[in-house]
Amino acid sequence: MGKHIASARIQTESSQLLKALNDSLPFDKVLYAEDIRGSRAHAEMLAQQGIISTEDQTQIDAGLAEILADIEAGRLTLDGDEEDIHMAIEGELTRRIGDAGKRLHTARSRNDQVALDFRLFVLRHNKAIAALLLQNIETLVTVAEAHSSTLLPGMTHLQHAQPINFGYHMLAYAAMLKRDHERFISSYERNNLSPIGCAALAGTPHPIDRRQTARSLDFAAPTPNCLDTVSDRDFALEILFNISTMMMHISRLSEELILWSAAEFKWVTLSDRHATGSSIMPQKKNPDIPELLRGKTGRVNGNLVALLTVMKGLPLAYNKDMQEDKEGVFDSVRTATLSLQVLNEMIADMTVNREAMEAACMIGHLSATDLADYLVKERGLPFRDAYHITGNVVNLAEEKGLDISELSLADLQRIDARIGEDVVALLDNRASMNARESLGGTATVRTLEQVESWKGWLREQKKV
Ligand code: ARG
Repeated sequence: MGKHIASARIQTESSQLLKALNDSLPFDKVLYAEDIRGSRAHAEMLAQQGIISTEDQTQIDAGLAEILADIEAGRLTLDGDEEDIHMAIEGELTRRIGDAGKRLHTARSRNDQVALDFRLFVLRHNKAIAALLLQNIETLVTVAEAHSSTLLPGMTHLQHAQPINFGYHMLAYAAMLKRDHERFISSYERNNLSPIGCAALAGTPHPIDRRQTARSLDFAAPTPNCLDTVSDRDFALEILFNISTMMMHISRLSEELILWSAAEFKWVTLSDRHATGSSIMPQKKNPDIPELLRGKTGRVNGNLVALLTVMKGLPLAYNKDMQEDKEGVFDSVRTATLSLQVLNEMIADMTVNREAMEAACMIGHLSATDLADYLVKERGLPFRDAYHITGNVVNLAEEKGLDISELSLADLQRIDARIGEDVVALLDNRASMNARESLGGTATVRTLEQVESWKGWLREQKKV
């Protein structure tokens, strides 16, 4: 083990144990493309400002381009003895081009370098995850359009409450994923500022041009305060929080899919491509995919809490604790990406069992509120009186083993003579669903209006 290029002060070789604890190359090597991109932009700016010669910059640029090509072609593997990806690339460059490579680190530090690389990585994934969210929203809207009059019992407390349509239920999830999409985009916009040139913590006496590097790396501008910039991991915390919230939504949908696949419901059938068997029970078909999506939510929450905890006590500026920022983010980003891809396929391929959903609407007197509303609207009763009369009607239906919508007019009028013939039609579950025409309500006309507005929104998103 030779002496490292970045250890001027250290006289003896590092302990193997220190290396095991200290080295981040085994995991931060995934940042190689960002590291090379940042270094090329930095060297170009150094030459433009006359800080290094054009000849050196030309060699640096060609050397870095060659290293990138070699990594991507599998000719160069990043498993050397260097501490991290920054030292590995700089070391490889110097081995290839000699002295010019040693000039690359002028006017920068690994502190702004890692802040740059990691930020570029996070920004790229904010956009990629946002694009996958759009795909999922589109799939939900397609299912919603096909099922805008498929009845199912809307629930509260997991108890049958009022009839809604399945399309409306899917659009509730579309609304959650849209807020998630907005969060990834707004994080991108807030954090799209360049850290490079901040150096160790306080800037540099070299006549650098941070606006130039910001432009060439497609940032909106440079960050304004170097001390903050090399200490800041908010951008990483934001993507972790955004992923956690998104996975919480996916987990709730997964939970419903698991319930709905059970024999007690049978409202949906997941395609055989998205179900697994049991090793002992030959008859089983298990919803492992939604279970894993639900389970992985715990893991991404762990990553968020871990980084919040790492950051909470750190004095300014860089501390090595911050090297702990990466693995959780890499893991959450990988988990989120795969989860969205799988979710999209599973929703597109599932079968919605309309008959089973509609049959379930005959359990639980779903249109009871409609009877109370009728007595208020048509008979002028105070709501609380109407509520109690309806309660008596429900009790009668229970005694007879019927749903409220199956009672005869004579039965209804035995409870209260003010109940007119016009009620019978109102108690039908589909009529009840369609009666909820208020803004944002479940009626099929409102659902289809929502579908149209979703389609318009999706078209707008595809333009940007
Ligand atoms: N591997 C380090 C990290 O991921 C890079 C920054 C190191 N800076 C330093 N001054 N030791 O955080």
